[in-house]
Amino acid sequence: MKLPEIALGAWAWGNDGIFGPDIPEKALRPVFDAAMENGLNLWDTAFAYGMGTSEKILAGFLKGLPRDSFIISDKFTPQCAGRLPDAFTEMIELQLEILGLDSFDIYWIHNVWGAPRWIKELAEYYEGRDDVPLLGVSNHNLAELKQAEAILGEHGLKLSAVQNHYSLINRSSEKSGILDYCRENGLTFFSYMVLEQGALTCRYDAAHPMPERSERGRTYNRMLDKLEPLYAQLKKLANKYGVKAAQIPVAWAIAKGTLPIVGVTKTGQVEDAVRAANLTLSAEDMAELERIADGLGLNTVRVWEKTML
Ligand SMILES: NC(=O)c1ccc[n+]([C@@H]2O[C@H](COP(=O)([O-])OP(=O)(O)OC[C@H]3O[C@@H](n4cnc5c(N)ncnc54)[C@H](OP(=O)(O)O)[C@@H]3O)[C@@H](O)[C@H]2O)c1
Repeated sequence: MKLPEIALGAWAWGNDGIFGPDIPEKALRPVFDAAMENGLNLWDTAFAYGMGTSEKILAGFLKGLPRDSFIISDKFTPQCAGRLPDAFTEMIELQLEILGLDSFDIYWIHNVWGAPRWIKELAEYYEGRDDVPLLGVSNHNLAELKQAEAILGEHGLKLSAVQNHYSLINRSSEKSGILDYCRENGLTFFSYMVLEQGALTCRYDAAHPMPERSERGRTYNRMLDKLEPLYAQLKKLANKYGVKAAQIPVAWAIAKGTLPIVGVTKTGQVEDAVRAANLTLSAEDMAELERIADGLGLNTVRVWEKTML
């Protein structure tokens, strides 16, 4: 399967209060169409994104499209599964039903809650089948992902990908050696929240905060003033390369050897993602961005996460 350089994330489509006011389905249709027209056909979702809402919206857009024209990346979220012995099978089959698909292209264990039970169940579910997707783990540290890899191996399956929070202001997956491990062992590292849910786009600042009644507003609004030195550098580079500031963190994540998943809610953001995929930052500009970001000393580890160090 050929993966594009950027995946698109549909968490905000779940309308679960993380991003702010609900986004109506009809506003997302042009976003989906613009992405597909531009070759961005890898969609990342989860049942947890609005308890099936994100998957349902995506399903409506996928209807009637040739199966090989899109790539679906979905997740098993342990906290959403029931308590019965066949909870894994029930959940994965419910997700396929919501999406109207026979198979996934990429399937993840969303986090380590209850580990290693769910990776074992994933392995047992797919062992010996001919419709095995790329299998991945998310929010796993190095020891946890190696354990998952070993369990899959016992069932003749391969761990193909890791999906963790990774941005200019959250590089713990890099500093803990996960990025190197992925590169050395042929695993694709998917970086999520490279834009810190909009906080690294220069669209928001202390005078223009994120929606107050949103989880991201509660997280990032208190650090928008501290981000000013990074905003100044992002704007300087945007000017130098003739791009938008929001494209710089995405281009940085690609240059670091990762596959960023960018959350999109507007057609212009799809266009920015396309341009970011074609933007090459110089080594000096990459280093300076990291120096400034590291110097801010911000902690953006979210409630469902841990530091990977
Ligand atoms: N595995 C996990 O545990 C996990 C956790 C988090 C995310 N993810 C995945 O990663 C994806 C990305 O994360 P995310 O959506 O939370 O955050 P993100 O990609 O860092 O930020 C997305 C938000 O930034 C804004 N944005 C995007 N492009 C922009 C542009 N060009 N200019 C200005 N603003 C722009 C949009 O919000 P506004 O327009 O509203 O400002 C958008 O909703 C998710 O959708 C999900 O698929 C996975």
